[in-house]
Amino acid sequence: MKNLYRFHVRFIPLMLSIFAMSFTANSADIEGDVMAGKDKFKTYCAACHKLDAKAVGPALGGVTDRRDEEWLYAWIKNNVELRASGDADAIAIFEEYNGSAMPVFPYLTDQDIANILAYTANPPVPAAPVGGGDVADGSGAAAADNDMALWIMIILGAVLIALIAILSTVRNTLKVVKGEDPSTVLEDASKYTRFLAKNTGFMTVFTAVVAIAFLNVAYWWMMGVGVEEGYMPEHPSAGQVAEHGVQPIAFSHELHAGQNEIDCNYCHSSARHSATSGIPSANVCMNCHMYVNGSEIVDPATNQPKYGGERSPEIQKIYNAVGWDPETMSYIEDYEVQPIKWVRIHNLPDLAYFNHAQHVTAGQIECQECHGPVEEMEVMYQYSPLTMGWCINCHRETKVQLGNGFYEDQHDALVEKYHGEDITVEDIGGLECGKCHY
Ligand code: HEC
Ligand code: HEC
Ligand code: HEC
Ligand code: HEC
Ligand code: HEC
Ligand code: HEC
Repeated sequence: MKNLYRFHVRFIPLMLSIFAMSFTANSADIEGDVMAGKDKFKTYCAACHKLDAKAVGPALGGVTDRRDEEWLYAWIKNNVELRASGDADAIAIFEEYNGSAMPVFPYLTDQDIANILAYTANPPVPAAPVGGGDVADGSGAAAADNDMALWIMIILGAVLIALIAILSTVRNTLKVVKGEDPSTVLEDASKYTRFLAKNTGFMTVFTAVVAIAFLNVAYWWMMGVGVEEGYMPEHPSAGQVAEHGVQPIAFSHELHAGQNEIDCNYCHSSARHSATSGIPSANVCMNCHMYVNGSEIVDPATNQPKYGGERSPEIQKIYNAVGWDPETMSYIEDYEVQPIKWVRIHNLPDLAYFNHAQHVTAGQIECQECHGPVEEMEVMYQYSPLTMGWCINCHRETKVQLGNGFYEDQHDALVEKYHGEDITVEDIGGLECGKCHY
């Protein structure tokens, strides 16, 4: 009994403080984060927008007062679509700016946009010259979160005190009725807390409640760890050399997998047979680009050859990699092949294991279910969050494709066990830690 009591006394404060911490970390997601918004604004918007003055596009300071939120999200994600839907405001502003189009940003998440809008509404002001310098780094947002946690603690405390006060009043009233001396609220309070702290039954229930709340928050926090959804290295601009976060060649899936309808497996041939999909080597590109050298490419805006009838400088980069001389149509002898250093986009941490063949071939899942509308992507980006929660949700919901020639023995046994009912990936053990972590 005594040990159990000690355990409670030590464990509860620890859990409560971790609980408060994770609560604080979590609630940062709910509202726009000014500093994160500033970064995104600089990366994606500052080329055309200022906050306080008109540039290529309108000034965005206070835009949240001018426009409603829903409209802003729709506009920022895809202004072309919004205009096409006949939205009068979208058409009006496009015309006001003489039809100069803003790019679409499908890879910005709602959270990114919330952050950007928070930044346009409340750009951090430089620290005041004297005194309170706490506004400069946007720590106001963090402070607000702390306030939130604090308020919850205060409210819980107040409820507890009110309960004790009510109990005490009731008891004292009874005492007065019986002609005894009433005790003070303070005396009663300490009596009650001592009683409750020694009451193992109560403490066990209390510990359990706190523990469940703690595990719940920890679980959701873990599910969201390391989310890189929307990550999109840029394409190089003309003449730009390789740089961190910029792809070495302006390769477009929209052009290859979309317009030219080249099958994913032509380039990512190992997806069906092995754990990884792999990126094609330059030799695969050469199957076509030995002949397709870009001189035929027409710029849709001008209807003129895009490179003045010259070879595409982007395709020349493939030739530089493998040592191909397009003039003589032959490989340069003794050329040291330079692998193209693509920037990797999807990347699970080492602790998790993912196998393409298992999903594509055995599970018969389309690439697009996890990678999105790749054939429409001019620039490749990460479509899914790739978190543990994402994997597990799909395993809970997706039925196993039986009779696909894989794992036939196990599948037959399962059909028997579940009497032919739908069998999800969860049923075959797809939620076991060891399947994805080892
Ligand atoms: C290449 C230039 C360019 C970039 C980059 C750009 N915009 Fe724009 N934006 C414009 C133009 C031009 C307009 C005016 C409308 C039009 O012509 O389509 C506009 C209009 C807007 C409007 C409507 C403003 C109003 O007063 O109603 C918003 C909101 C907006 N942009 C937000 C953004 C955000 C957020 C980003 C970054 C994620 C961004 N823009 C990036 C060019 C750009
Ligand atoms: C002509 C060859 C080719 C075809 C066809 C092709 N890809 Fe790719 N894919 C590439 C190259 C090159 C890259 C690396 C450059 C990039 O990320 O844009 C790539 C990158 C990717 C990536 C991101 C890899 C990373 O770094 O995480 C995914 C996902 C992908 N492709 C999926 C697909 C899907 C799905 C299809 C079919 C709809 C497809 N690809 C068709 C050549 C191709
Ligand atoms: C199955 C044939 C095929 C393969 C394989 C292929 N391409 Fe292409 N590629 C094309 C065609 C067709 C075009 C469009 C040419 C046109 O529109 O005139 C093109 C266009 C391009 C362009 C656009 C040129 C420009 O500047 O606008 C680039 C860049 C390119 N490919 C890079 C690659 C790379 C890198 C690979 C290898 C990962 C690759 N391609 C593999 C057929 C292919
Ligand atoms: C069930 C979801 C899922 C499906 C279906 C899927 N992928 Fe992936 N893909 C992933 C994940 C997760 C990663 C990251 C793997 C890692 O980092 O270890 C990835 C990574 C990639 C990469 C980067 C290189 C690599 O192998 O890590 C390419 C390219 C790719 N996928 C192409 C494809 C193609 C092509 C298909 C269809 C034939 C496909 N994927 C189907 C989830 C999926
Ligand atoms: C779109 C749905 C979907 C997503 C997303 C998904 N899976 Fe799966 N997964 C499946 C299906 C369906 C199977 C069953 C394939 C089969 O029939 O063997 C499977 C099977 C597995 C298995 C084998 C399970 C077993 O019991 O044999 C592992 C391991 C696995 N997935 C890991 C992952 C990981 C890691 C991720 C996230 C990075 C992930 N999966 C995301 C649908 C999905
Ligand atoms: C279907 C596959 C799958 C299963 C089953 C699974 N995990 Fe995970 N887990 C992942 C993936 C993928 C990540 C990486 C997520 C990320 O990077 O956001 C991950 C991340 C984690 C992390 C976070 C590590 C970090 O980055 O801080 C922990 C801890 C973890 N898993 C524990 C578990 C435990 C315990 C179980 C069993 C109850 C389990 N996982 C079952 C796929 C799985």
